[in-house]
Amino acid sequence: MLEIFSKWKANLTSADLPDQAEEGKLPQHIAIIMDGNGRWAKRKGLPRIAGHREGMKVVTKIVRVASNMGIEVLTLYAFSTENWKRPKKEVDYLLGLPERYLKAELPKLIENNVQVRLIGTTDHLPDHTLRAVEKAVKDTESNTGMILNFALNYGSRYEMLEAVKSIGRLIEEGKLSADSLTEETIHAHLMTSQLNDPDLLIRTSGEIRLSNFMLWQLAYSEFWFTDVLWPDFKEQDFVEAIAVYQKRKRRYGGV
Ligand code: FPP
Repeated sequence: MLEIFSKWKANLTSADLPDQAEEGKLPQHIAIIMDGNGRWAKRKGLPRIAGHREGMKVVTKIVRVASNMGIEVLTLYAFSTENWKRPKKEVDYLLGLPERYLKAELPKLIENNVQVRLIGTTDHLPDHTLRAVEKAVKDTESNTGMILNFALNYGSRYEMLEAVKSIGRLIEEGKLSADSLTEETIHAHLMTSQLNDPDLLIRTSGEIRLSNFMLWQLAYSEFWFTDVLWPDFKEQDFVEAIAVYQKRKRRYGGV
């Protein structure tokens, strides 16, 4: 295991860690599909929402360790455009979690220089959820540390469809020509236009699929899957995923 991780394991603070830039291979952007809350709860004979509540505690832990390690962007898939199909009680609970989390954690996020961001559509989101997240985005907008990017009511196909529509409108208005379009044009019209693509995707709970998450952005990302259910996911698992990433050779189609 690399020196930086041994140090982290010894519970040193971020101030004690070596300059991450020198290591060169720390993933800058990590995206996580936090899966398995329902199964975790079922195994314990608890209602599904108990799994989501436990999952929120894990979000708190992983955000802290990611920020301390110097990760630049952490994108968390908190609610997908498909999650509306769940029972209303579960949907309401899930959509209440960002507010609960931010109520408890926003002061610490501010203290740790974290910037909160949001991707997804605001359509149909409850007002209280939107207000809580927008306040966090505003209160942290001048911070310069890790970007904590919540994918909330997010679906990648919807995102791409909206990008295509807005590019189409520019073409209709004569501001762009079809032949001038590039991959950068598409990137610029996605909800992640301000971010680099994820270097590493983590999915918990043993499911090996993308579930409509960042389909464009994950084109060259490294994937790491674990059977661990999200509520059982530990800082050590996160560190292991990064250590595995660091051993991978990224070739981007080259040799
Ligand atoms: C998938 O597990 C998980 C979700 C749909 C929600 C993820 C949300 C959290 C982990 C908490 C979010 C916290 C904040 C602060 C926004 P599942 O319910 O599909 O699990 P299953 O596949 O075992 O049923």
